[in-house]
Amino acid sequence: MAVEFFNDGQHKCIGFYDLVSGDGIQANQFLVVNGGHSALIDPGGDLIYRDLFMESYRYLFTKSLEYVIGSHQDPDIISSLNQWMLGSSCKVIVPKLWERFIPHFAPKLDFKNRLIGIPDEGMNIQLGDAVLQALPAHFLHSEGNFHFYDPVAKILFSGDLGTSLVNSDFSRPVDNFEAHIPHMEKFHQRYMSGNKVCRLWANMARKLDLEWVIPQHGRPFKGKPVITKLIDWVEKLQCGVDLMTQDNYQIPCSTTGEKINHAAARRR
Ligand SMILES: [Fe+2]
Ligand SMILES: [Fe+2]
Repeated sequence: MAVEFFNDGQHKCIGFYDLVSGDGIQANQFLVVNGGHSALIDPGGDLIYRDLFMESYRYLFTKSLEYVIGSHQDPDIISSLNQWMLGSSCKVIVPKLWERFIPHFAPKLDFKNRLIGIPDEGMNIQLGDAVLQALPAHFLHSEGNFHFYDPVAKILFSGDLGTSLVNSDFSRPVDNFEAHIPHMEKFHQRYMSGNKVCRLWANMARKLDLEWVIPQHGRPFKGKPVITKLIDWVEKLQCGVDLMTQDNYQIPCSTTGEKINHAAARRR
């Protein structure tokens, strides 16, 4: 089911929330259209390519996709790159830090004139009459990572930050932030890098005029009161290296391999 987050006729922001099936983590993909110009944000993997292609092309005025944008290098973000490059004449925009790694997803294709690297400090991406701003979100969680701010729709596409692991109602905005925390906490404690970058991000995010914060997994955040709570929560979050102790860095005991073999034997 496609979800229209914004549509004034000229400018549209669409989310796709139910394309992933099977064992892959639930993930959301986003399409921003301005007049005859369009960009897909975090289109995901081969698992959903065909469905996303069909769904997204219903919204394109010109039937030509201009940009495929990856916030970072993960498989659920941009491992379908090969298919998008073959299936359209899109340019690919990814963090400069991952520019030489991402072509591994499309090893036989020519990236000359098709790959644009986002510098560490971020950049503005012109999309028709509008601009998508790539905002630094490094270490939240990837080392080279960007969020995308749409000033027309006042939407921040926040990648893995704000992720919730829920079983249903993926596109329903969070109404009770406190009740939602248990769905986010464990993910952020393990996948985000540390409190220092959480605080730096919160300082930046508070300067944005936001109506929506929309993560790549789980439910979106709508309206300033709940978004303020999200930013405050991120600012205080203890995660990643904050939580690591020597207990997390121990050599596995000598019987670990034996246990794996026993498990395999039981399956046979
Ligand atoms: Fe990720
Ligand atoms: Fe993700």
